[in-house]
Amino acid sequence: MKNGEKDFVVALAADHGGYMLKCAVAKHLDERNVKYIDFGTDSEESCDYPDFAKKACRAVQSGECRLAILLCGTGVGISMAANKMKGIRAACCSDTFSARFTRLHNDANALCMGGRVVGAGLALDIVDLFLDTEFEGGRHKLRVDKIMELENER
Ligand code: RB5
Repeated sequence: MKNGEKDFVVALAADHGGYMLKCAVAKHLDERNVKYIDFGTDSEESCDYPDFAKKACRAVQSGECRLAILLCGTGVGISMAANKMKGIRAACCSDTFSARFTRLHNDANALCMGGRVVGAGLALDIVDLFLDTEFEGGRHKLRVDKIMELENER
């Protein structure tokens, strides 16, 4: 594998508020030789972030992609939508510490960021930490299992 390349595919999606950041993330993934599927949106024309969260998260659910990167204006709406989908643990991050620890401790499988919140420089550092950090397991596995059991609560 080339430097920075991964043996998994990333699902990438955004609404209009995250579109420009999605372009920067896509370019960065290309430069790192990280494979990804771009689920849109393809312009800054107004659209609905749940539609794009759904497309990308379905690819994670099916195993086609291992991780998702989801972008909207704040990162919040698209993370709320993603977290409604079974098996998805989406974390909205605006800092590198959270991005690293949400992989280490929460086994997050979707990174959400706000195109109107973080600049591209910080966002790409966040992406790198998210992609390059593995789940620690151990005591955190039990806690993540408990999160997933909450999917069965009414
Ligand atoms: C769209 O204007 C905006 O509401 C959306 O991108 C996101 O910030 C929602 O959480």
